[in-house]
Amino acid sequence: VLLMRHRMKSSGRWAKAEAILRELDEKCGTSTGKLRQVADAMTVEMHAGLASEGGSKLKMLISYVDKLPSGDEEGVFYALDLGGTNFRVLRVLLGGKEKRVIKKESEELSIPPHLMVGSSHDLFDFIAAALAKFVATESEDFVLPPGRQRELGFTFSFPVRQISLASGTIIKWTKGFLIEDAIGQDVVGELTKAMERVGLDMHVAALVNDTVGTLAGGRYNNPDVIAAVILGTGTNAAYAERANAIPKGQGPLPKSGEMVINMEWGNFRSSHLPLTEYDQSLDAESLNPGEQIFEKTISGMYLGEIVRRVLCRMAEEASFFGDDIPPKLRIPFILRTPDMAAMHHDTSADLKVVGSKLKDILEIPNSPLKMRKMIVEICDVVAIRGARLSAAGILGILKKLGRDALKDGEKQRSVIALDGGLFEHYSEFRNCLKNTMKELLGEEVSESVVVELSNDGSGIGAALIAASHSQNHEIEES
Ligand code: GLC
Repeated sequence: VLLMRHRMKSSGRWAKAEAILRELDEKCGTSTGKLRQVADAMTVEMHAGLASEGGSKLKMLISYVDKLPSGDEEGVFYALDLGGTNFRVLRVLLGGKEKRVIKKESEELSIPPHLMVGSSHDLFDFIAAALAKFVATESEDFVLPPGRQRELGFTFSFPVRQISLASGTIIKWTKGFLIEDAIGQDVVGELTKAMERVGLDMHVAALVNDTVGTLAGGRYNNPDVIAAVILGTGTNAAYAERANAIPKGQGPLPKSGEMVINMEWGNFRSSHLPLTEYDQSLDAESLNPGEQIFEKTISGMYLGEIVRRVLCRMAEEASFFGDDIPPKLRIPFILRTPDMAAMHHDTSADLKVVGSKLKDILEIPNSPLKMRKMIVEICDVVAIRGARLSAAGILGILKKLGRDALKDGEKQRSVIALDGGLFEHYSEFRNCLKNTMKELLGEEVSESVVVELSNDGSGIGAALIAASHSQNHEIEES
């Protein structure tokens, strides 16, 4: 009798859990029609954001990058990349058209979590100190001629309002950073002061978003690159816009006739987005409630956390893990997206990776196969929604540029440079994004639209932008 009861109870638990899973799947639905609506809404918001300051949830920030690298860039340049879980310092020796990148060295450090929510002063001190240490390891190849100051491109991956290429104030923080006293401050000014404090003599020649850096790095390697998208801790896109299509732009039009726009698409929002109760609670309990809704359904910082929230509900309402709720499951962000990806990618018959992740992370020692299978399904639903929405976002950009169809019957080659750990390492996500692009564009057009990994574009890109806007360069030209 006891065994019977146990069996009935457990079949009830699976049934309830299945119902929660089905509901999730339904609410996360991204039919082709829905994605088209999302893409159209993206295009509409792009227009609105370009028309006037504050005209849209999409900030469509003017980057002051009006020429992308040509390949002619020469000399030694540094770059600093801050914005995700890690931060990087890098130096390159550029050799012009023929020799291109002659030598490149870089170092990666993780940012101590307390600095992500501390004071501006502490964060910039930490960065400047790390940079000074890196500069101290400079070999002869990188030594500048006497009298020349080292120059740096600063990739700062948060929304910044710029009035020139080498200055800009922080509009708000995203992705788990929250340093109140920095809001409204000039990022370059703060970095420069911190560099002075550690005795480092370096000139910040350009301040760029990671999307802008990736666009520059992508274009350097491939002239057909028209836009860049980051799918990492956060998500965002940048593209080259016609300067006369930016009504809110002030001052004379740039000679090139082009201007790179940092869309800040993470803050996109539309009634067409398929949102669930899990997204709502995640948002409400986040550091930035009501903001970055697109980002919160797509990017690496959040996907694992959405899965955790679904599992919590299953534990509470369906006793999915037995009578007790595993205490670890209650800890926000304990399930990271790389762990989710590892479970999702598990191809073993008994799903042993899923089993060991459950054991190691959530302290659930014995997980039946049925449980493991359902967890993989949750990962699938959440990742697929994110990947498909990203594809819809890209379609929105292509539409804005008139590149979502043949032009006078001819194909136009459009390359989108992609970077970020989510795209690079989560292959289910990446493959789904690529397939969805095909689905949305159709066979013929999709042949000329390429989504390609532009690894480390953002660091090199910032150095390249610094190079093409270098003060030494100006001295030589005049
Ligand atoms: C967040 C930031 C944005 C950045 C993106 C990717 O959305 O607001 O500036 O480009 O993350 O790192």
